[in-house]
Amino acid sequence: MARRVASALLVLHGPNLNLLGTREPAVYGRVSLAEVNRLVQRHAESRGARAVCRQSNHEGELVDWIQAAAREGFRGIVFNPGALSHYSIALRDAVASVRVPVVEVHLSNIHAREEFRHHSVVAAAAVGQISGFGPGSYLLGVDALLGVSPALGGRRAAARRRP
Ligand code: DQA
Repeated sequence: MARRVASALLVLHGPNLNLLGTREPAVYGRVSLAEVNRLVQRHAESRGARAVCRQSNHEGELVDWIQAAAREGFRGIVFNPGALSHYSIALRDAVASVRVPVVEVHLSNIHAREEFRHHSVVAAAAVGQISGFGPGSYLLGVDALLGVSPALGGRRAAARRRP
């Protein structure tokens, strides 16, 4: 019998998220990035998917990973662009340039924080945004992608559903 191939999802973390666990714990909690990745991977496996997690402090490296995602066989991207969410047109354009659906996630509720965090330039190019559930935002992101990707045929189908 043919083995079911798990869908592969790419999880991207932007700048400073490597410091999770020690960075501003009152805002981001005490869970390390390695633990977040383990949680995401376990959650994805429980849904029959596989999550590959990467972190970079460099905008260009994130752009390269987004551009290469389809070629690498990923069906969707859960993306926390960190501070770059608020001003990186390059990341916004990268997300808009690929067919792979991207769900933007944030640990903190960016809308309840400083005003400069309220706007994400990436969000409009993403399928949607999940913000404020701590590491749970990533798990919700995985569920959102699995809902969008196979059933609806990816971002094009999602876009067709927009009014
Ligand atoms: C963040 C929110 C951003 O405003 C901040 O710059 C981050 C983390 C979050 O996950 O809550 O680095 O993306």
